[in-house]
Amino acid sequence: MEAKILVVEDEVIVARTIASQLMQLGYTVVGTASSGAAAIDKVNRTEPDLVLMDVMLKGEMDGITAASQICSQHDIPIVFLTAYADENTLQRAKNTLPLGYIVKPFNSGELRVAVELALFKHQVEKELRTNQSYLATLLHSMNDAVIATDEQGLITFMNPAAEGLTGWREAEASGKDITEVLRLVDEVTDLPVEHPVTQVLQTQEVAFLKEFTALINRNGDRIPIGDSASPLYRQLEGIGGVVVVFWDMSAYRQSELLQKALETEQELNQLKSQFISTVSHEFRNPLAVIRTASELLELRGGEMFDDRMRGYIQRIRDSVQQMNQLMEDVLIMGRVEAERLPFNPAPIDLEPLCQDLLEEYSLNLSDSHEIIFTHSDDAPETWMDKTLLRLILSNLLNNAIKYSPTGGRVHLDYTYVLEQQTIVFKVQDQGIGIPQSEQAQLFESFFRASNAQLLQGTGLGLAIAKRCVELHQGQIEVTSELDVGTTFTVILPYTAKV
Ligand SMILES: Nc1ncnc2c1ncn2[C@@H]1O[C@H](COP(=O)(O)OP(=O)(O)OP(=O)(O)O)[C@@H](O)[C@H]1O
Ligand SMILES: [Mg+2]
Repeated sequence: MEAKILVVEDEVIVARTIASQLMQLGYTVVGTASSGAAAIDKVNRTEPDLVLMDVMLKGEMDGITAASQICSQHDIPIVFLTAYADENTLQRAKNTLPLGYIVKPFNSGELRVAVELALFKHQVEKELRTNQSYLATLLHSMNDAVIATDEQGLITFMNPAAEGLTGWREAEASGKDITEVLRLVDEVTDLPVEHPVTQVLQTQEVAFLKEFTALINRNGDRIPIGDSASPLYRQLEGIGGVVVVFWDMSAYRQSELLQKALETEQELNQLKSQFISTVSHEFRNPLAVIRTASELLELRGGEMFDDRMRGYIQRIRDSVQQMNQLMEDVLIMGRVEAERLPFNPAPIDLEPLCQDLLEEYSLNLSDSHEIIFTHSDDAPETWMDKTLLRLILSNLLNNAIKYSPTGGRVHLDYTYVLEQQTIVFKVQDQGIGIPQSEQAQLFESFFRASNAQLLQGTGLGLAIAKRCVELHQGQIEVTSELDVGTTFTVILPYTAKV
């Protein structure tokens, strides 16, 4: 598209000559004006691509003043026409940022060069300006902090993110050495680290911060950061400065630290449960030896032993039995804590399972306690983990027996609750009871009530039972009154798996 040009020249003949020269060169002349005021008016109306402006105009306003008014309102290149290129006029003309001038008289070739050059320069400058404002917007809206320095490391630019992180305003920081504004220390030792900008200025290569570098901001706060620093190239002149891009790593570091702590915790847990199971297994063998040896002693010693000695042997065997139980409990608890207690539900019939369990008790208990077993008749087959269910019930029964006097009655019951689709187990005793204030802690590992200290126990039974109940998505509750008795209620969801 040919450029539209406005000619401002107070000599009418000259104006016409220039206009016809321009038209011959292929430009469109949108008009001529003979005064500054007329020129401004015509620019407003015709919006030319370029103005040819005579420096000397008759009237109030000369060409330079008219040009500067036009420039202040329009983005239009102006080429001055001047009869004499005196320094003073040229200097004034330069101040209005004209894109060239041409000295009268001129031929059409010179006119063309001046016009083309001005149009071209204007175009290039316009593109540069768009690019610059694009870059500026980009840098301003970036979340990453950006600081640029000159070739001596003095700050020339900071974006708002950099202002935020360092605590310095761009205006204050500008011209300061970057090491003063971007103060970097080793996160671990707190000692200053080699500044990447110094490094870049020496090597002229991209430099990165070491891992775990922190920035000390203007308030003295420590902010972990990540960064990269690159040399700014300026063609021909070599390195023109450095740009540092950095960002806040606090949030990342936080989650990194948490992650590490979690991993350590998991490792420790793993080790603990490994340790527990190894130790328990190692205990089992010598315990088995002790038990067998004591049985053999009793068997072979026969007549040689009096009652007192048999009593000793019995005590050995009781203790072995206790230790065995303890080892089993610790082993299970270890698995519970490592979350490795397997949950394998299968269809079970509750009635035979309970009968089975009670038979074991009646063998062991002889006549010390009476266990009364009741249940609702309509309990259907349900999906539960047999091993875990046995752990639950045997722990509750053990307690009921242990914490109630010889000859006491222990009640075991289960009921199928149709409306809730649950099976409710109850183990009830008429024993020593549990102090109200201690009931809340009952299910914690190793917790033992104050009134139970004289009786053997580790405080693991209920913790294990609770975990087994939870694996079934069930609940366990206790009601108890001192010296009256205790009832444990276990509610497990009834599941009929298809
Ligand atoms: N039926 C009960 N009557 C009175 N107190 C009870 C009863 N059941 C539990 N307790 C109290 O709760 C505590 C925790 O019980 P838990 O079964 O966890 O441990 P324990 O019986 O002491 O030891 P073990 O690990 O050998 O079972 C007991 O020490 C006791 O104080
Ligand atoms: Mg117990």
